[in-house]
Amino acid sequence: MRLQDKVALITGGGSGIGAATVLRFAEEGARLAIADVNVEAANQVADQVRAMDRPVTVFQVDVSRRSDVEGMIEAIVKEYGRLDILINNAGINRDALSVRKTKEGEIKKMTDEQWDAVLAVNLKGTFLCSQTAAVPMMDQKYGKIVNTSSIGALGNIGQANYAASKAGIWGLTYTLALEYARYNINVNCVAPGATKTQMTAGIPENILAGIVEKIPFRRMAEPREIANVHLFLASDEAAYITGQVIFVDGGMSVGI
Ligand code: NAI
Repeated sequence: MRLQDKVALITGGGSGIGAATVLRFAEEGARLAIADVNVEAANQVADQVRAMDRPVTVFQVDVSRRSDVEGMIEAIVKEYGRLDILINNAGINRDALSVRKTKEGEIKKMTDEQWDAVLAVNLKGTFLCSQTAAVPMMDQKYGKIVNTSSIGALGNIGQANYAASKAGIWGLTYTLALEYARYNINVNCVAPGATKTQMTAGIPENILAGIVEKIPFRRMAEPREIANVHLFLASDEAAYITGQVIFVDGGMSVGI
């Protein structure tokens, strides 16, 4: 068991990569906390964890709200006595694709609401959860934080908000790694490529085929393949790795 009795909080754990990570961590003996705005989805994942005989608590939380996040961290420490692992996985996209191929460009169509919503959940949520979870981790002199970027951080038409949020997470990761090293807290970041989840389920077949064409492995990732990297970075096998962004993208980010 690679995470025996470690206390792990996974945000956005009700679906996709987050749900796969919750279940992977349960297999490795972790005690779990699932945070999600969608409490029904989170409860369904929690039922699967209970069936594996592992402790789990569900929190209905919007990661972009400080009061939600602070209340949750306090409750986790009260329940489990500590917090060892934070997987900052909750994320959304709100794309501006409707003017594809017009002279204004997609950024012209992006609304303040689209911009603010994506930056709030993806970037501010990662900041708030890290800042708050780090308090018990600093006391313990032990912690693992894994952030979630995306191959989209390299730029993607219609996703200026998403790309900015996911590239911003690199800077946050580098800085937190420096600030928290003295407390024995590792801070790393996973940048998935196209992965089979709700987030990609709505993409039309022809667009998806075009994406897969650009992936050297010629297939999308399974959520569990991202969860396996979360597991490694959250485990003591990765004790000397900090401040790194690891692409898990079937090779899509390399080559010309
Ligand atoms: P998903 O849509 O299947 O799951 C996201 C979960 O986050 C949902 O359960 C949702 O309810 C929750 N969530 C959304 N806003 C929230 C908030 N404000 N507070 C708390 N929970 C919230 O998405 P998926 O694909 O599993 O994505 C997980 C992470 O991986 C995201 O950060 C996403 O940007 C990133 N990612 C996904 C890729 C993909 O191809 N699916 C590629 C690269 C990165």
